[in-house]
Amino acid sequence: MTTTKKRLLTGDRPTGKLHLGHYVGSIENRVKLQDEYDCYFIIADLHTLTTKPDKASIAEVHGNIRDMVLDYLACGIDPNRSTIFVQSRVPATFELNLYFEMLVTLPRLIRLPTIKDMARAASLDDETLPFGLVGYPVLQAVDILLPRAVLVPVGRDNEAHVEIAREIARRFNYTYGAEVFPEPDAMVPSDKLLPGTDGQSKMSKSLGNAILLSDDPKTVEQKVRGMYTDPARIRADIPGTVEGNPVFVYHDNFNDNVDEVNDLKERYRTGKVGDVEVKRKLAAAINRFLSPMRERRVQYEGNTKLIDEIIGDGTTRMNAVANETMRMVRDAMGLFA
Ligand code: TRP
Repeated sequence: MTTTKKRLLTGDRPTGKLHLGHYVGSIENRVKLQDEYDCYFIIADLHTLTTKPDKASIAEVHGNIRDMVLDYLACGIDPNRSTIFVQSRVPATFELNLYFEMLVTLPRLIRLPTIKDMARAASLDDETLPFGLVGYPVLQAVDILLPRAVLVPVGRDNEAHVEIAREIARRFNYTYGAEVFPEPDAMVPSDKLLPGTDGQSKMSKSLGNAILLSDDPKTVEQKVRGMYTDPARIRADIPGTVEGNPVFVYHDNFNDNVDEVNDLKERYRTGKVGDVEVKRKLAAAINRFLSPMRERRVQYEGNTKLIDEIIGDGTTRMNAVANETMRMVRDAMGLFA
C-alpha cells in the first residue's frame, strides 16, 4: 500500500480506557485527520517505563493496550487506512534514541517544566530523577521522526516536546548534511477541556469523574444523575446559571438536538425546569452520541484475535517505515558504511 499523503503521528501511553474528555480533546480530531494524512497512532508503552519501570507496572500497562485499541476502533479509527502500533515492538526506536541523545543538551531537557511536573507526580526529586525520565522528550522525538511525520496533534502539555523534536530534526540534518527529517508541526486543539461530572475542571479517570466511551447506557444514566450542577439552585423554581455548568457544557458538546438544548437553557435560567429533566435529556443525548461507537465496538469486542491482528499488522507496517528511515539515518551518519 503506497500513499502520497503526508504522515501524521500521535498517540498515548496505555493508561486505560478512554473517556468523553479524550474524545473531544483529541480522538475526534484524529478520526477526521485520517482522510487527509497517512496516520500513525503509537501506543507508547516505553514512555511509561520512565516513571514506572517495575514488572507489575509493565503487566498493568500491557493489560491496557487492547482496551485502548478497542476504544480507538470504536471511535472510528480505521485500521485499513491508519497504522496502530506498539512502541516497544519497533526495535529501531532504541537505536535512533541513542543517536538522538547526542543531539540535544542536558540543560535543555532538565529545564523543561514537563520533566519537573512528571518527576513531582512520581515523587522523584533531583537525587532520584532517572536518566530515562530526562530523556522522555528525546524518546518522543524518536516516535515522531521515525515515520518522518510532519504533523503531531497533541495537547498543550506536549507542545514543548514537539519543539524538542523539531530541534533534533534540524540538528540531525545539519550535523550530517542530509535532509532526512522534516521539522514536524504540533497541532494543539483550542483549549477545550471537558469538565468532570463532579464539576472539576478536567475529566480524568483517576479523579473518578469520567464517563467512559465504553460505559453502557445504564451507567451513563447513573453518572449523569449524580452530576454536579449549579449548587445555588436548591429548588427547580430558582433561576440557575448555564455558563460553566457542566451539565450544559455536556449538552453543548453532545446533544445533537439544538432546539432542545436552547429550550432547556431558557427554562433553566428562568427557573422553569427541574434538574431531573435536564439530566434525563442529557443522558439520552450522550447515549445517542455513544450509540455508533457501541455498534462499532461489538464488531471487535471479545475478539482478541482480531485486535491482536490489527496491532500486529500496524506494527509490521510501522517497522517497514522505521527500517527505511534507519537506512537513511545510518547512511547520512556514515555508520556501518
Ligand atoms: N507524551 C504523550 C503523553 O503525554 C504520549 C506520546 C508518546 C506521544 N510518544 C508520542 C504523543 C508521540 C505524540 C507523539 O501521553
